[in-house]
Amino acid sequence: MDFNIAVLGGDGIGPEVTAEGVKILQAVAGAFGHGFNLEYGDVGGISIDRHGTPLLPEVQDLAGSADAVLFGAVGGPKWDDPAAATRPEDGLLQLRSHLGVFANIRPVKVYPNLAEANVLKPEVLAGVDMVVVRELTGGLYYAQPKGRHETPQGRSAVDTMRYSEGEIERVLRVGFELAQGRRGKLASIDKANVLECSRLWRQIATRLGQEYPEVELEHVLVDACAMQLIQHPARFDVIVAENTFGDILTDEAAVLSASMGLLPSASLAGVPVAGRKIRGFYEPIHGTAPDIAGQGIANPVASTLSVALMLRYSLGLTEEAASVERAVEQVLDAGYRTPDIAVSDYRRVSTTEMGDRIAHTIAA
Ligand code: IPM
Ligand code: MN
Repeated sequence: MDFNIAVLGGDGIGPEVTAEGVKILQAVAGAFGHGFNLEYGDVGGISIDRHGTPLLPEVQDLAGSADAVLFGAVGGPKWDDPAAATRPEDGLLQLRSHLGVFANIRPVKVYPNLAEANVLKPEVLAGVDMVVVRELTGGLYYAQPKGRHETPQGRSAVDTMRYSEGEIERVLRVGFELAQGRRGKLASIDKANVLECSRLWRQIATRLGQEYPEVELEHVLVDACAMQLIQHPARFDVIVAENTFGDILTDEAAVLSASMGLLPSASLAGVPVAGRKIRGFYEPIHGTAPDIAGQGIANPVASTLSVALMLRYSLGLTEEAASVERAVEQVLDAGYRTPDIAVSDYRRVSTTEMGDRIAHTIAA
């Protein structure tokens, strides 16, 4: 089959790792006989530099009309002036909102033979296999009022956390559906001891829980969750959290996998159901890593696994997705390591070598 894929590399290591993601798509095309028509666009800092805005309307349209979007990362010190009128990140937030991708799915996996590269003890990591569902188009990131003001007492700033019942329900439903197909456990994250949004969230989670009697629901306060993620991570199956909590918890969860460079994400505009294709936006959870950009040492696995999620959720290519995931495991099993996960010089490889290894391992 033929598919249109929008490719938006962005800034820093974004373009480097996205190029490897594209390499993986091409390997899948060759092995399984599909056609991927790639359409490239600028987003983020590079778009500010070239076009004066982090997202041109035509790039937004390109993303909106594609079967799926492969995204890299945006941002960097060059555009970090707190007084700047626009930021690279605005382009990403606009895209997520425009595409309506409210459910950001971030699977967290532990590769046993990366234990040496992990700062945590192997016994803590035993049995870790979870999925974090992060609400992506609401909360503090988007709600109004938002801004900075001069006042007679000095400057003040405001961000607003606001959620509607509908926004909360749809993302929790994604969590319940995923839990049903997994170990049947859902941790709903909130700060209900302090925040109104969280109290509404907890009520809705409890109500939805009645529709899913086979899923064991627990409410966990976000601060306690942060601790338990490191202390007893294996207890979690599916975690659902609002936008900001989910952002913070998933960087923490990346530590379980040994490196930020390994974690992919799928942002979906609907509930994932086997056999149904959903509009999606696919990006590593890591950022632009300006300190290593342009050196050819970034880990392309997060982008590669994001491609696998794209094949599964937006293109309906389940077997192809599994073959990409298997290829990553085989290459890691064979000992190939980018510097972020290497503990010696043995089979230490560059970004492109890692991508080549994975691409060559993909088979129908
Ligand atoms: C992420 C990133 C983004 C976010 C930034 C770059 C806006 O940290 O995808 O997790 O906060 O959502
Ligand atoms: Mn983040």
